[in-house]
Amino acid sequence: MSQMQTDQQNFAQLSAQVSQWITQFQQQLPQRRAALVDDPQLPAHSIEPTTTGTQAAFAAFKQRIAPHLSATAGPRYFGFVTGGCTPAALLADWIVAGTDQNVAQGGDSISSEVESQALAWLRELFHLPNSFEGTLTTGATASNILGLLCARQFGGAQQGIDIARDGFSNADISVFSATPHASSQKAMAIAGLGRNQIQAVGCLADSEAMDVASLAKLLAANTSPGKIVIASTGTVTGTDFDDLVAIAALCKQHNAWLHVDAAFGIFSRLLPEKRDLSAGIELADSITCDGHKWLNVPYDCGIFYTRHLEYLQQVCSVAAPYLDIGSAAPSFMDRGIENSRRFRALPVWMTLQAYGIEGYREMIAANCQHALQLAQWIEASDHYELLTPCNLNVVVFRPKNSSDAEVKLCLTQINASGETFMTPGFWGGNSAIRAAISNWKTTAADIEQTCRLLEGL
Ligand SMILES: Cc1ncc(COP(=O)(O)O)c(C=O)c1O
Repeated sequence: MSQMQTDQQNFAQLSAQVSQWITQFQQQLPQRRAALVDDPQLPAHSIEPTTTGTQAAFAAFKQRIAPHLSATAGPRYFGFVTGGCTPAALLADWIVAGTDQNVAQGGDSISSEVESQALAWLRELFHLPNSFEGTLTTGATASNILGLLCARQFGGAQQGIDIARDGFSNADISVFSATPHASSQKAMAIAGLGRNQIQAVGCLADSEAMDVASLAKLLAANTSPGKIVIASTGTVTGTDFDDLVAIAALCKQHNAWLHVDAAFGIFSRLLPEKRDLSAGIELADSITCDGHKWLNVPYDCGIFYTRHLEYLQQVCSVAAPYLDIGSAAPSFMDRGIENSRRFRALPVWMTLQAYGIEGYREMIAANCQHALQLAQWIEASDHYELLTPCNLNVVVFRPKNSSDAEVKLCLTQINASGETFMTPGFWGGNSAIRAAISNWKTTAADIEQTCRLLEGL
């Protein structure tokens, strides 16, 4: 019998051991170091020449890797915009591996149908109209890439060029944005449009939000037939929201494609009192949202919607005799970058099934409340200053009267503590520290612990 067959025979015992280990890891997350800032290394070790089996591999994992895993999924990891993982989503992800479905197209399983339903549920959660269709992606970066590829295809169509078919050497495309996320610059590079080719739209005073008057001027002066505007619903530092109603009106007037990066900002739509922040998002041509951020499903999961599925399919369609199994279900390999795709729809489906609109509304409201708690403490503190009002889940601050080097040092000390993890930002031309609170596990006590840490530095 091969070792793989033996492992399969012993699957019940092996999976019980792994399950116990994961349960313990989860329970110890609040005590585990939020981040290991010293870049742990694996000991030099050649590949095993012989078969040792899962038991031995698991022992090696526990010895060499497990001690160096951080609590990125824990309650005080406030770096980037990092979600945790709800219990339902975590367990669903085990099922994903355990069932190993390939959600490329229909015709062999219900998995495509699950992705369709997950996308429909998310659309309801975000109060988006049914005209938006799309796909799950590997993250907001991939969704921004899809948005730009659709927009590029639209831009080509305005000048009689099918870019997906013929390339875009003759196409004239112009892209405008005020505060594009770094991933949109990456998307520009990947789409062959050039990361430095975004035409900078001005921002409103003390804000990362787009100055619509500045956009109006740029669009009026631009003669390109293929215009694209990238707007933001929640910028990554200031959590600022572009005026989508006004921007959409300008896009309509100038026949420009409107892509909205709403990676985490879209979750503000769950709170009635904050829904107006993203008014007009239903007028976008395409939207980026994220799953592994505020939806709290495991990595990796992004969401992409467009009102013009035809452009997405023109870009992503794939044809080969061996792929043609004649299913009527949506073909997700014709909607995204990958052909073979993970069943990442299941954690989305299961977490929405488990917690519903109410559970998510509570979680988003609680995270916003925790961010406010931290912001209010900072505002009242003698040592720190809040740099911009906290209007969602991100807190931007710095030590008072400090140089950029001192801000960096402060962030280094915060992260070296292991109690929390925050990431750098830039505000008003100066270095800042940003804390993004997007994990369902975070409690008021976690914020108090964080404030005690800041007080003691
Ligand atoms: C507004 C925005 N867009 C895009 C991204 C990129 O997301 P991901 O890392 O999931 O690709 C982020 C990440 O923080 C973001 O905040």
